[in-house]
Amino acid sequence: MIDTSTIRIEKTSQSRINELDEDNIPFGKLYSDHMFIADYIDGEWQDLRIVPYQNMSVSPAMTTLHYAITIFEGLKAYKNAAGEVVSFRPEANASRLNVSAERMCIPQVPESLFMDGLTELLKLDSAWVPSKPGTALYVRPFVFGTDEYIGVRPSNNYRFMIITCPVGSYYTKPVRVKIETKFSRAFEGGTGYAKAGGNYAASLYPARLAQQQGFDQLIWTDGKSHEFIEESGTMNVMFMIDGVLRTAPTSGTILKGITRDSVLTIARDWGMQVEEAPVKVSEVVAAAKEGRLQEAFGVGTAATIAPIATIGFEDELFDLPAADDSFFSKKVLKELDAIRTGEVEDQRGWVYKI
Ligand code: COI
Repeated sequence: MIDTSTIRIEKTSQSRINELDEDNIPFGKLYSDHMFIADYIDGEWQDLRIVPYQNMSVSPAMTTLHYAITIFEGLKAYKNAAGEVVSFRPEANASRLNVSAERMCIPQVPESLFMDGLTELLKLDSAWVPSKPGTALYVRPFVFGTDEYIGVRPSNNYRFMIITCPVGSYYTKPVRVKIETKFSRAFEGGTGYAKAGGNYAASLYPARLAQQQGFDQLIWTDGKSHEFIEESGTMNVMFMIDGVLRTAPTSGTILKGITRDSVLTIARDWGMQVEEAPVKVSEVVAAAKEGRLQEAFGVGTAATIAPIATIGFEDELFDLPAADDSFFSKKVLKELDAIRTGEVEDQRGWVYKI
């Protein structure tokens, strides 16, 4: 059993909070004053602590540096209208972390360890939660194997950490995406559904080729036929075609996005027609050509709701109408923001007060 009340706290003597400029927050560059750490040694999580954010010393033979035995999560903390710090569906992140952990032979992180570490860290660094619209404190929990061993096997020892960084938008303007039909992100039986570091590493080369062609991101298709839409590099994707909200079902190859689930839940509660079923690339392309693709957008924690401006497929480019307040993507983002700030009642128990 873990006694999470034993979190040791070592406060920094030199806060860097004056480096935070709420009007100009680049994504992932500035980290808050503290970080949470727990070590898995001899089969149990121990030495729970919050310490000043700092570099770590690791062995050059640390297994994760060689074999990517690492998983992560992404969630956000916000200030509500009353100035309190809240987080959005953190229990869902705790549970998804353990789905990833199982696939990567990483020990389970008890929900209480995840939630207590998160809560204590956010209490201590509450001043780092920005309050301007569109900003948040991004929270990055992660686990990695720490064995000093370069043989290929699961690690015996692990570290679970939480770091946080104030963020603005991940995408500062509507994105240009390319439907990828040569490279693959995931296959059935692989690790696509896990939030595993290696999945992201493997996506970088195809993404770079697309960036050289002027795109911001890829839309991945299934690894076998490349006929079906899967997800984008940093977010799940949704399409509004003929008034129906369409997205691929989550599966062994698609990440179970928490923002994805929240958007689908709201859409259904609003009485919209929602179809969580395979989406053919050819359907999206035909709808774009015929003006029936009313909206396309990415959904993710970091990306929030990211309108897609242009879709590239083979040699063609399809420009989509600019999203205005009448678009579902705008309305649902407003609703999510209102739930977090408390302007709209949190009927689904999504908001967690720190
Ligand atoms: C998130 O949205 O939190 C993610 O983990 C995506 C990340 C790769 C930026």
